[in-house]
Amino acid sequence: MQEIKDRQELIKAYIHFFMEQQHKELPSASLIPENDPTVLFTTAGMHPLVPFLLGQKHPLGKRVTNVQKCIRTQDIEEVGDPFHHTFFEMLGNWSLGDYFKNEMIGFSFRFLTETLKIPKERLAVTVFGGDKRVPQIPKDDEAAGIWGALGMPKERIAYLEGGALESERNWWGPAGETGPCGPDTEMFYWIANEPAPRIFDPEDDRWVEIWNDVFMQYNKVGEGAYEPLAQKNVDTGMGVERTLSVLNGLQDNYQTSIFEPLIRKIETVSQKKYGVHEEDTKAMRIIADHLRAAVFILGDERAIKPSNLGQGYVLRRLIRRAVRYGRILGIEGNFMSLLTKEVLQVYPDYQELHRNHKFITEQLEEEERKFKLTLEKGLKKFDEIMEDTKEIIPGKEAFLLFQSYGFPIEMTEELAEEKGIKVDMEEYNQEFKKHQDLSRTLSSGAFKSGLADDSEATKRLHTATHLLNEALRKVLGSDIKQKGSNINPERLRFDFNFSRKLTPEELKNVEEFINSKIKAKLNVIREEIPIEDALKSGAQAEFGAKYPELVSIYTIEDKSDQRGWFSKEICTGPHVNNTSELGKFKILKEEGVAAGVRRIKAVVWNE
Ligand code: ALA
Repeated sequence: MQEIKDRQELIKAYIHFFMEQQHKELPSASLIPENDPTVLFTTAGMHPLVPFLLGQKHPLGKRVTNVQKCIRTQDIEEVGDPFHHTFFEMLGNWSLGDYFKNEMIGFSFRFLTETLKIPKERLAVTVFGGDKRVPQIPKDDEAAGIWGALGMPKERIAYLEGGALESERNWWGPAGETGPCGPDTEMFYWIANEPAPRIFDPEDDRWVEIWNDVFMQYNKVGEGAYEPLAQKNVDTGMGVERTLSVLNGLQDNYQTSIFEPLIRKIETVSQKKYGVHEEDTKAMRIIADHLRAAVFILGDERAIKPSNLGQGYVLRRLIRRAVRYGRILGIEGNFMSLLTKEVLQVYPDYQELHRNHKFITEQLEEEERKFKLTLEKGLKKFDEIMEDTKEIIPGKEAFLLFQSYGFPIEMTEELAEEKGIKVDMEEYNQEFKKHQDLSRTLSSGAFKSGLADDSEATKRLHTATHLLNEALRKVLGSDIKQKGSNINPERLRFDFNFSRKLTPEELKNVEEFINSKIKAKLNVIREEIPIEDALKSGAQAEFGAKYPELVSIYTIEDKSDQRGWFSKEICTGPHVNNTSELGKFKILKEEGVAAGVRRIKAVVWNE
């Protein structure tokens, strides 16, 4: 097998392989998806590519590849075993309506057996076995046939039948409720020392999945409703941590060079040894995983801080859970920020982490300090509650732990579960609603990942956001910059740098400016141009974002402006074709969200 000890070597080998097959490399997108109300984090490499999987032309062509930073929180309770993570890196390559099954399975086979030199005897695959409820999508004999022709023995090709869609086995996507999806074929590696059995048993967990090729040819439009996509795509995903682990003959991702410095440091801080006692090992993995994820969230250019809302809440949960496991491990002092360096040294290629090093350290320190103030008392309170609890912890008590002791509800649930008890979530939710009308994001449903919403309402708000961005510069001054944006079908939300509250006159001027541009019926034009030209042309770009060599820009034309346009932004879209489609624009709210950052919420409607 190929000697690959370091994550960067694996990434280089992958990208190089696909560039040789005429793929263009894309930069990793932000962990925080923009303009997507249904999802908190980027969960897969395909996520930023959804518009292109649905048929929009990609500026770099039909073949792209990259390594993408991802966060998945639905398995957070599983973290602690040898291979679950919340943050991970995903290698991927995409055919956007270009090659399909035959070429892709060939690429996979060659990369695994020739580049990585994995012995064929240690490989097995699964293919889509069909689903009774969706008879229009047949079992994937084609993929099985291609594997067979490449020399994969029949006994090593398993059809996963029945309920395939339900369990999502050999079917991937959509990432949310609707969107691109399709059958997949997954590749497995035999990790045990003894030779692999002749017959592949997908239930045997010594077979570890390392790569997934998804044949995205359907668009899910509703429950059980699948329409063929205009183009047939390929979407693949290979986990860096897991692949590096198997290439090094390890059965534990936390023993790879990715985690090695971090685990050593946790050993020093805790005076415990990794791999001796199961409970200690588990705690170390949780701390390592959560700390790494927190560093990546804090290090992202979108400057998320711990909070009780959305991404900030997930960040808070990760940090607080790690702090609690630090306590279980017997660490006395504050430790989180001491470990940052050990994460950063493994990721010289994510420059944002290094640029934001200070912010990361400060935020970790602050959040740990805050939580430490109440953790001991909260745990005492929890014990008291437990003394009075027979079957189920009342929601009111769980809410008290959240409100007064800063225990994320998931932490209380976890503590309860350790004692074999549940929390009355219904009552907790009622209590929660009563006290604070916090965002729906706190209910578990909103943690599900999802896709960008391409509805007309969203499109109109998206174009309105571009108008607002420029109108603010016109009214408040040319150094106004976008700091963030979030759109759902009901409203837009736009954050920008400004040091004080806007006056009623300023707000009125902004509104009137925008409404005049809507009335002027300006055309919205999309172009694909090299990034340098886009920047030179004066197009707005996001601060610190990495862009591919060719980008799409949206221009709102305006003959009354001496530049010939009103707004120009580097943006994936989609947008309306003409500002007249927006109807009327109104600002609902203007408020401060952080020092020097203001937020506007606004709507558009047709009278
Ligand atoms: N999007 C696919 C996955 O995440 C490749 O497994």
